[in-house]
Amino acid sequence: MEHKIEELIAKMSLEEKIGQLNQESIIADNERIEELKDLARQGKLGSCILAANGLAGDCEQEQFLIGELNELQRCAVEESPLGIPLIYGRDIIHGCRTIFPIPLAQAATWDYDLIRDAASIMSREASYDGVHWTFAPMLDICTDPRWGRIIECPGEDPLLGKMVAKASVDGIQGEDMSQPGKLAACAKHYIGYGASQAGRDKDPTEWSDYTMHNRALPAFEEAVDAGIATVMSAFNDISGQPATANKYYLTDVLRGKLGFDGYVVSDWAAIERLNCQGVSDNDLLSAALAINAGVDMDMFDGIYKNNLEQALIQGAVNMETIDEAVRRILRIKFRLGLFDRPYTEDVNTTGRVLTKEYLQKAKEMSAHSMVLLKNNGVLPLKKGEKVAVSGPYAEEKESLMGSWHASGEAKDVVSFFEGVQQVNGIENTLSDCNLAEQSDVCLVALGEDWMITGEGKTMPNIELPEEQVAAIQQAKKLGKKVVAVFLAGRPLAFGDIVEECDAILWAWHGGTMCGLAAAEILFGDFNPCGKLPVTFPRYTGQIPIHYNHNRNEYVLSGYYEHHPYVSTVGDSTPLYAFGEGLSYTEFVYDNFRCNKTDTAFEITFDIHNKGKFDGFEIAQCYIQDVVASMARPIKELKAFQKIYIKQGETKTVTMRLTREDLSFYDGRGNKVFEPGDFKLEIGTSSRHSCFTITEYLDFR
Ligand code: GLC
Repeated sequence: MEHKIEELIAKMSLEEKIGQLNQESIIADNERIEELKDLARQGKLGSCILAANGLAGDCEQEQFLIGELNELQRCAVEESPLGIPLIYGRDIIHGCRTIFPIPLAQAATWDYDLIRDAASIMSREASYDGVHWTFAPMLDICTDPRWGRIIECPGEDPLLGKMVAKASVDGIQGEDMSQPGKLAACAKHYIGYGASQAGRDKDPTEWSDYTMHNRALPAFEEAVDAGIATVMSAFNDISGQPATANKYYLTDVLRGKLGFDGYVVSDWAAIERLNCQGVSDNDLLSAALAINAGVDMDMFDGIYKNNLEQALIQGAVNMETIDEAVRRILRIKFRLGLFDRPYTEDVNTTGRVLTKEYLQKAKEMSAHSMVLLKNNGVLPLKKGEKVAVSGPYAEEKESLMGSWHASGEAKDVVSFFEGVQQVNGIENTLSDCNLAEQSDVCLVALGEDWMITGEGKTMPNIELPEEQVAAIQQAKKLGKKVVAVFLAGRPLAFGDIVEECDAILWAWHGGTMCGLAAAEILFGDFNPCGKLPVTFPRYTGQIPIHYNHNRNEYVLSGYYEHHPYVSTVGDSTPLYAFGEGLSYTEFVYDNFRCNKTDTAFEITFDIHNKGKFDGFEIAQCYIQDVVASMARPIKELKAFQKIYIKQGETKTVTMRLTREDLSFYDGRGNKVFEPGDFKLEIGTSSRHSCFTITEYLDFR
């Protein structure tokens, strides 16, 4: 393959080389299709993004007809001098027609297999539409729920982010991405976009290199190790250096340190945006800054197409840089098998998408993602008993798909009300708490509209809207047992209603089958097992608040605990902690035993299911590097296991920590392991530990 690439590059004109670096948008109604065909015939087009505009997550995306895509591909393959195929990219983030829970909800499953399977199904559905490449997984670690794109991210923890990264790449690309149903994946947004100040979308990121390496980089490292085909450069600047012109991160780190050999695509017009970020005042300079930093393909704005030749003539860019960018793009096109199979068979997708199997998988994942936050015993409900369903999200369908729902359609979504009807019977499901003299339970569906989540959507506060608080209070006033069900994307601050609720189920924007999955949990068909991938603050003013923060004298066992000097007013702890989530059954941990060798520390323990329900438990292992050359977090998740334990049964779990697990990046980007005392905790969440031990570890 490398030989073929070199042969091609040797034959390419400068225009054809620059053409490979150019990605144009296919506008939905295709008024540009003739112009695109001409570009393709001249070899001046390398890729198309199947998006009508720059906010593809926010609006319905028309289906692109396979015939049109194949016709345009034919212009490139059969009518251009070298016949290099186009690569078609689209934002298939958490589903194509069958919509799975939003990625933040997927992280709440802590389940590699489910995430990989969902990624595999969405890729297969997208491949029928002619998509070769998806701009997923989004791996931006985030601790600020004001940011609308927290819904797309794997949460606040680097280890969970690594699991999501690997599961996504394995599901999207498979062992061999040239196989039918597989796509090229794209790790985005490199790097630090999730730390934009105050959650303001596209705002600067002030994470230090130290924090960037230890928090944001691990998920990308894992994606590269999993063989990801592409990476997308981010909009934000990193301490004054735009990510899209950042040679240190794009070349020295991504290629030098991580060994990435695919290609980097800019985010939508991110090269042109270098002007508004103040590091450039003309497109030629922007083109040179981006390509010299390591951005290989230019999404949408035509800056490379219109300026690279001049930049070369003026010596701002050299030919080797352009050749290397072309080489990386051709490498992925070969690996995708596009030279052998450039066209997509125009098949009737009926019966191939939204299949029973895919919907079952979507329901399974949605159920696993839901987090039981409170239950005073009212759950599970008994089937056949009358319940009333109220609240603004009871009949909502579109929002349950969340932002970035591609070709998902609201008509396919099971609303929460419909879900309860299906599980509990239409005759037993009343549509309003007021009519509920016949029932003593009121299920109140709360949440947020999908359109205030996703790109460009920053909320200055995350408190629950008062009409939703009122819905709970009204149900309470009727003397009902109140079960709050949240159909939301970002964490919301709903501390004011916790007391009024007998139970709280966080159901997320859980996709096509969300309503049914939530109902099945409430009526005991599924024992909830989700655990929070992000901290839930009590108040907006606590943000940023995350479990893995550095220490100070006010932090006792984790987070920002009560302290006589600081929390004179209000409670400075989170509403719910990272890793928290209840079950209908009770898991008891005991019989801890440790084993230390000179290369690993193992903790083995038993978990008993003491309750009346079979269920999944997610055991978590946290460490604290007690003293190190840099201030290390109060605790960090270093291992977790999700196990299924039948009622009355006991399972034995072993967790193994090695030198690699206990290493960290020092302030100069070097990964180091420092022998010393480590405090290890085994727990059911970041603030409920069942076992703690401090050991001196000096692994080889
Ligand atoms: C958007 C998003 C990015 C997406 C791209 C293409 O601006 O930032 O996540 O993949 O443009 O739609």
